[in-house]
Amino acid sequence: MEAHVVNPWVAAAYLIAGICFILALRGLSSPATSRTGNRYGMIGMAIAVATTLVTHEIASLPEILVAIAIGGGIGFAIARRIPMTAMPQLVAAFHSLVGLAAVLVGIAAYYNPAAFGILEPGGLDILKGSRIEMGLGVAIGAVTFSGSVIAFAKLNGNMSGAPILLPARHVINLGALLAIVVLVSLFHWNTPTLFWAIVLLSFAIGFLLIIPIGGADMPVVVSMLNSYSGWAAAAMGFTLHNTAMIITGALVGSSGAILSYIMCKAMNRSFISVIAGGFGAEAGAGGAAAATDRPWKRGSAEDAAFLMKEAENVIIIPGYGMAVAQAQHIVREMADQLKAHGVGVKYAIHPVAGRMPGHMNVLLAEASVPYDEVFELEDINGEFAQCDVAFIIGANDVVNPAAKTDRSSPIYGMPVFDVEKAKTIFFIKRSMGGQGYAGVDNDVFYMDQTMMLLADAKKMVEDIVKALAD
Ligand code: TAP
Repeated sequence: MEAHVVNPWVAAAYLIAGICFILALRGLSSPATSRTGNRYGMIGMAIAVATTLVTHEIASLPEILVAIAIGGGIGFAIARRIPMTAMPQLVAAFHSLVGLAAVLVGIAAYYNPAAFGILEPGGLDILKGSRIEMGLGVAIGAVTFSGSVIAFAKLNGNMSGAPILLPARHVINLGALLAIVVLVSLFHWNTPTLFWAIVLLSFAIGFLLIIPIGGADMPVVVSMLNSYSGWAAAAMGFTLHNTAMIITGALVGSSGAILSYIMCKAMNRSFISVIAGGFGAEAGAGGAAAATDRPWKRGSAEDAAFLMKEAENVIIIPGYGMAVAQAQHIVREMADQLKAHGVGVKYAIHPVAGRMPGHMNVLLAEASVPYDEVFELEDINGEFAQCDVAFIIGANDVVNPAAKTDRSSPIYGMPVFDVEKAKTIFFIKRSMGGQGYAGVDNDVFYMDQTMMLLADAKKMVEDIVKALAD
């Protein structure tokens, strides 16, 4: 029989923490309830951390507090300095640490099972029931670590974002995955050689899985690695009989997997292809260069102010460029002025606008844009046909009609806004040459009803606000 006895108070506290995490996820599903959701998450985490501190069985309290202070201090300093646009690589870097932590905890538990309460009663060996979980935990942790390091290097520009395609990579990946399944099953017999073989092969798998993925798919990969880090924590939770780790790990694992699936759907990528690696080789690698010799019309802030003041309704489509320019506050001011003139204003948010899920929603919420003015793609796309002005600010791929018509385009199949149906289109970007994420030209630039407003987004909207006030 297994000797591990769980204190019922600890189990109850972890259960309450787990319920708080579930309520947190539920709250985060809508902007209106997200603050409450965050609070639940913080309360759950406080309960989990406090319970662990009170029942510390492995390290002494000062040791734990010093470790928290060092880790927390470094995290705080980095998160304060990092620009919003570098968030994906920061998230990748943090996931690598979660993976590494799972591996290190696994190594510690492997060499000192008594300290973790997972020793066979009266024996010298690790509990049989904990071995497979331990093998799985270190394997997923190691894959998460090396995969996240590569994702970080690609996103941060330390490594080329281009896919690196090894010959017969699918055979190699499949062989390595099968080998790891066999090794983890054999770990039932527990030998140090098996343990280290699992760790080293898993590091290699993380590397092999991520190098063939191109820059365009990298954010999906980050979300998937987030999911892996959750499963690694859950597996270690089973090894250490820690309910809080099992619940939180499973929540992170499943929500990360669902998010990856949603992102794949929004970008018209196949989930399986992204996981298998190498899909980015075909997609997002850049398409036709800008055909700037085609005729296009340049507009001014005054033109935009005049036409929008006269309009009945304006739909604002924000994208990555609004985030770069940090123009969200001035956009809200512009909308306030338009509303004061009796113009109906709505915001249209594409699921993959910007560079991370919910990027635009966060920025608009930060600028106190009312939630009831913000609409998802499927809820607003039918309104462009009756819309006087489509005001595109720093978005590009998400309004590119090639996604609907050009089979050869890397964004073909991605659902996009039907902006071309609007009577007038204002398109803010800095130059005709600058492309969107997919690197393809956009027919909307050259349409009869389009006026290009070429400038930094914040500067241009500031000028429009001034012109509206005149
Ligand atoms: P993009 O297609 O990337 O276009 C951004 C536009 O902003 C460009 O036209 C750029 O042109 C302009 N811009 C950049 N800085 C600016 C500034 N300071 N002022 C004014 N304009 C500026 O953006 P999008 O429409 O938001 O599309 C998102 C793309 O990212 C999609 O292809 C999507 O698949 C991809 N992606 C998104 C995610 C998530 S989860 N959101 C994940 C992975 C990939 P100039 O350089 O000429 O200014």
